[in-house]
Amino acid sequence: MTDIQNDNYIATAKAHANIAVAKYWGKRDSLLNLPLFDSVAFSVDGLYTETTAVWDEDDFRDELIINDWQVPSHVMGRVQRILDDIRARMGWSKRCVLRSKNNFARSAGLASSASGCAAAALAASSAAGLELSESQLSSLARLGSGSAARSIPAGWTRWHAGSAPDGSDSYAVTIAPPNHWNLHVFVVQISDVRKSVSSTEGMERCKRSAFWDAYRLEASQAADFAQSAILQRDFDALTKAMHHNMMSLHALCLTCDPPVCYAAPKSLELVQHILRACKAVQVCCTMDAGANVVVLCEGASYPFVKNDIIALGVPFIQTRIGGGARLI
Ligand code: DP6
Repeated sequence: MTDIQNDNYIATAKAHANIAVAKYWGKRDSLLNLPLFDSVAFSVDGLYTETTAVWDEDDFRDELIINDWQVPSHVMGRVQRILDDIRARMGWSKRCVLRSKNNFARSAGLASSASGCAAAALAASSAAGLELSESQLSSLARLGSGSAARSIPAGWTRWHAGSAPDGSDSYAVTIAPPNHWNLHVFVVQISDVRKSVSSTEGMERCKRSAFWDAYRLEASQAADFAQSAILQRDFDALTKAMHHNMMSLHALCLTCDPPVCYAAPKSLELVQHILRACKAVQVCCTMDAGANVVVLCEGASYPFVKNDIIALGVPFIQTRIGGGARLI
């Protein structure tokens, strides 16, 4: 880590959302967002956040403005962990103003907190004059939201859970670049309604499910299965890994106390359709903690998949595997 010159204390960064193939669900430390298991994801080129960070006078009242909405200070807590960490490294008491724009709905299972915290970590650390390595940035973004660790590196990523109590070995790395596998990505926007139970709360509740131990066992192997499918470009293996992991997570959520159901009827309609279609064509899908469905397919299946999604009558974004966080 070195200091870079930034006399104006201002920087702008762009980071993409990421969608997990083997999901992060369960924490070993909830303050540092340290996961119980490794997870694997891909960056989504068409979903991103751009954030400008400005450090100014000595005052701890940070500000966060998302798409012209001034976020109330009591809900800024997560981004504040990122800013507090930077202040501690700098020995500062300056405040930071973050202006952020997402090109998609917040909190609807499309990982806006991931791209948001990754963009905030890169913009705020660069504006402060810190030049952090990719793994240090990934750890810094993780403080805001765990999955944000995976929005720092490019392409297909693996977040190593690590074992150090301070989280110093818990960060994401690229396992394959964006052009490794020429897949089409459809983000099908079933709902833009804010999810009623946050991922943080959902994860806590799931620990009280009678099925938690069974889930833990499977989840501890999920990242290895997904990574090997990706590295070998084995679509059938990827389909199996993704569908199994998605179903286990959503089934677990239904069994926790009180239960959480993230899927909407239209999500299930599309998932069922893809479960049938994947026997004949190369297509698979996943849902994070929200109603939206993300569909992956190979080039030859693309026309059928696209027509089926159009027939569903809901908005969608058609995109590709994306890059990592960068300064703009
Ligand atoms: C289902 O990263 O939103 O999308 O660390 O509490 O902010 P916090 O949780 P968050 O959880 C994401 C959960 C998930 C799976 C995943 O992205 O791996």
